[in-house]
Amino acid sequence: MDLNLYNYKSQKNFSQKHLLGLSYLTEDEIYQILSLALKLKDENKKGIVHHHLKGKTLGMIFEKSSTRTRVSFEVGIYQLGGYGLFLSSSDLQLGRGETIEDTARVLSRYLDGIMIRTYKQEDVENLAKYASIPVINGLTDLLHPCQVLADLMTIYEIKRRFKGLKLAYIGDGNNVAHSLLVGCSKVGMDITVACPEGYEPEAKIVYIAKKNATLHGSNVTITHSPQKAMENADCVYTDVWTSMGQEAEVSARLSAFKEFQVNKELFGMAKENAIFLHCLPAKRGQEVTDDVIDSDNSVVFDQAENRLHAQKAVMVLLMGQQK
Ligand code: CP
Ligand code: NVA
Repeated sequence: MDLNLYNYKSQKNFSQKHLLGLSYLTEDEIYQILSLALKLKDENKKGIVHHHLKGKTLGMIFEKSSTRTRVSFEVGIYQLGGYGLFLSSSDLQLGRGETIEDTARVLSRYLDGIMIRTYKQEDVENLAKYASIPVINGLTDLLHPCQVLADLMTIYEIKRRFKGLKLAYIGDGNNVAHSLLVGCSKVGMDITVACPEGYEPEAKIVYIAKKNATLHGSNVTITHSPQKAMENADCVYTDVWTSMGQEAEVSARLSAFKEFQVNKELFGMAKENAIFLHCLPAKRGQEVTDDVIDSDNSVVFDQAENRLHAQKAVMVLLMGQQK
């Protein structure tokens, strides 16, 4: 039977305490999030207000810059009747050496949830280990799970299915590529990552994705040919060549990635009705040209909007269950 996320009924409770990465979630839990996100979006458009998290507080720790993640979480918790606190790590004692463990214990005494954007995935895992409240990964060097939930939501809204679709990711084997590998393989989509030699996704992530894909009979492919990746692609995704924290590598990366630009010619090799996705911010003229990102096939601003709805669903499912 076709997947209907607009009317998805799970037989199970959402049992996760945190959102640290998509590999921790079952396929059913991903569908629970996406289904609630679609419902919240629909209600939001109709002006229906639900204060599912009335009086709850979300602390948002940022060790890296952000536009979408910060604004969508802050607006999201507000729309749910709660309050969001922006906590720049340089203003916290964390920035002066207080441990993650102590920070987790202290913040758990004030807050109902923590969202953190930082460098090391290990720091997010540790925060979750020592916190008594839900922890949400708002991006690490390794993963970007909130982004990919919004991406899957966007893909579903347009294509109304996952199985049988192919996503071609062109560029760096980075945090976004990693979460796409896990997310797409969990929902049964084919995914091909095309990257220059030396910029492949981490082997442990590819291993997880291939294991997920086996369960669905779908495919996970890593290639060095962007043209090969585009064959039969329904979704074409790219991200910056230089992620936050890699600024010293800019010139080496500019030359390594020059054949991996998603321009009109490359995009034209995908299926005719293929959609273009980018997590944003984009470096226009580098990984993508204006004629692709501004084309009718581009859904980048739907993805950005869906961050709000998907994260509201995540917060309701994680923070709404607390006693
Ligand atoms: N896509 C994304 O996470 O954007 P920000 O860095 O602006 O939060
Ligand atoms: N790969 C990018 C994603 C930004 C949302 C980075 O980590 O900078």
